[in-house]
Amino acid sequence: MILVTGGAGFIGSNFVLEWLATGDESVLNLDKLTYAGNLNNLASLRGDGRHMFVQGDICDRQLIDRLLNEHRPRAIVHFAAESHVDRSIHGPAAFVQTNINGTFNLLDAGRAYWSTLVGQARDAFRFLHVSTDEVYGSLGPSDPPFSETNPYQPNSPYSASKAASDHLVRAYYHTYGFPVLTTNCSNNYGPYHFPEKLIPLVIANARAGKPLPIYGDGQQIRDWLYVKDHCAAIRRVLSDGRFGETYNVGGWNEKANLDVVHALCDILDEMDPRPAGGSYRQQITYVADRPGHDRRYAIDARKIERELNWKPLETFETGLRKTVQWYLDNDAWVRSVQSGDYMKWMERNYSQRDNVEEQA
Ligand code: NAD
Ligand code: TYD
Repeated sequence: MILVTGGAGFIGSNFVLEWLATGDESVLNLDKLTYAGNLNNLASLRGDGRHMFVQGDICDRQLIDRLLNEHRPRAIVHFAAESHVDRSIHGPAAFVQTNINGTFNLLDAGRAYWSTLVGQARDAFRFLHVSTDEVYGSLGPSDPPFSETNPYQPNSPYSASKAASDHLVRAYYHTYGFPVLTTNCSNNYGPYHFPEKLIPLVIANARAGKPLPIYGDGQQIRDWLYVKDHCAAIRRVLSDGRFGETYNVGGWNEKANLDVVHALCDILDEMDPRPAGGSYRQQITYVADRPGHDRRYAIDARKIERELNWKPLETFETGLRKTVQWYLDNDAWVRSVQSGDYMKWMERNYSQRDNVEEQA
């Protein structure tokens, strides 16, 4: 079996569902169920003996030691993290705790467990750390995309905490020979994406007749990857990646935020027209920018293509249509995650961003 951390979050739950749909190896899923974790994402696995869920914290060393020794996984796939940049600006401490201390704890417990393995079990064991392109900082308009050798220049508490965790993972390989693999992926989108992030937030707000908030001038660029393509890349790195290596994963889909929001409005206009008529674009509202907002991310994904023969299958157009369709079909899921805590976050993040003059 494999141990997955954060398997009730956005990417983790997609990974667990895909893993069990494409093979028979069991999953031990450890997740703290923070605001971002949701067991409803895994509802289709109820009664499936191949999935074992444990609610717990990656910072709890005793728990991790017990789980590793009792279940003896052949790999750890580590998704658990605090993941939202805006939340890291309002409250960085949780990011340091989970992303840095939690990853350290998991690495150290993983190494202790690995050191007890012998023969084939020891050779087969691996620890895959799921990280982000944000560790590389921000690109200028004509800079080449991030490759695996770009220097780390994180700019937000979120990206700084992920950078620190990447460094610890690297150090455990170089110092102890612990068999690690790291992936640095660009922005994901798709089913089960929590509606605090741009794409699901815009879909949810559009349908609720609420403003579609664009930070600053909306010309910040992200490189979007459909979540199932990311999950396929992780499976490939887990099976064929070389220990100690990092692999950049991206969709070759650089888009300005405003273009993403326009594309979403156009798809919604077609699939779910506004009851009042007119385009959802009318709901776009420019708001104060994110402090320290990175201008551009882009991934050079040639290494994983060349060495591991992975390429994204979805284009931005096909992936976005699938995503909008999923949200239209899963209104109950969206409503269930828009709890009291969610409303508090929306108030906290958006109430101090006075609307600003339209800039485009
Ligand atoms: P998410 O916020 O949707 O989910 C994170 C999950 O981790 C949640 O289920 C949460 O309950 C769990 N968790 C948080 N703290 C925990 C703790 N201390 N112990 C155990 N579980 C805990 O995040 P996501 O978007 O699915 O991202 C997953 C991973 O992928 C993260 O490491 C993130 O940095 C990385 N990543 C995300 C993106 C993206 O676009 N979302 C892109 C690249 C990399
Ligand atoms: P987000 O989904 O938070 O991902 P990340 O910050 O990890 O890239 O944001 C994607 C982009 O969209 C980012 O440039 C910030 C911008 N954005 C808005 O313009 N408005 C919003 O309400 C949100 C949440 C994000």
